[in-house]
Amino acid sequence: MPESRPDYLPPEVQEILLSSEAIERRVRELGRQLEKDYAGGRLKFVCILKGAVPFAADLMRATALPVALDFVAVSSYGAATRTSGVVRLLKDLEHPIEGEDVLIVEDIVDTGLTLGYIRELLARRGPRSLRVAALLDKFERRVAEVDVEYVGFRIPDRFVVGYGLDYDERFRNLPYVAVLKPDVYRGEGA
Ligand code: IMP
Repeated sequence: MPESRPDYLPPEVQEILLSSEAIERRVRELGRQLEKDYAGGRLKFVCILKGAVPFAADLMRATALPVALDFVAVSSYGAATRTSGVVRLLKDLEHPIEGEDVLIVEDIVDTGLTLGYIRELLARRGPRSLRVAALLDKFERRVAEVDVEYVGFRIPDRFVVGYGLDYDERFRNLPYVAVLKPDVYRGEGA
């Protein structure tokens, strides 16, 4: 039996929204779903840096298929909790995706602007198929219509951190998804 220890709980955390166990269970389900949907095939994960790193790492290990991994990076919010609506490609893929079954792996879909941009960019490169797996879906805030074929959890409109998600580059290493105390964002009106 692996030794279990309590999750690290920084003082800024107000509430744990999704426990590490709940995330682990759901990721395992998604992995099995991918195995069914792509049975006999192979997958190219396109992980969106940096927030989707833990999700992509866990999802690929929950999937008994040959999985190749590539990364893109797009401009982020910085220290803001709301998107500027302007998306910029900071790092492109290392390899072409023409003819491949591509799964974009994203941490959270909020307005949908980031994902809409990446989906369109990759669709133009001629993959055999193109789908999206997002750990979290903040559906109430959607501005851009964008398909998300695999959703971990639908969550309410709250700014969350942990399991890859940050606030000003902090809290990515929390093993759960949490809401921070309001005074952490003071001055920003979030
Ligand atoms: P969208 O373009 O508004 O859909 O925003 C997507 C990106 O914004 C995600 O990839 C995250 O990096 C970031 N983001 C959106 N909501 C949150 C949140 O609640 N916590 C942390 N990052 C978020």
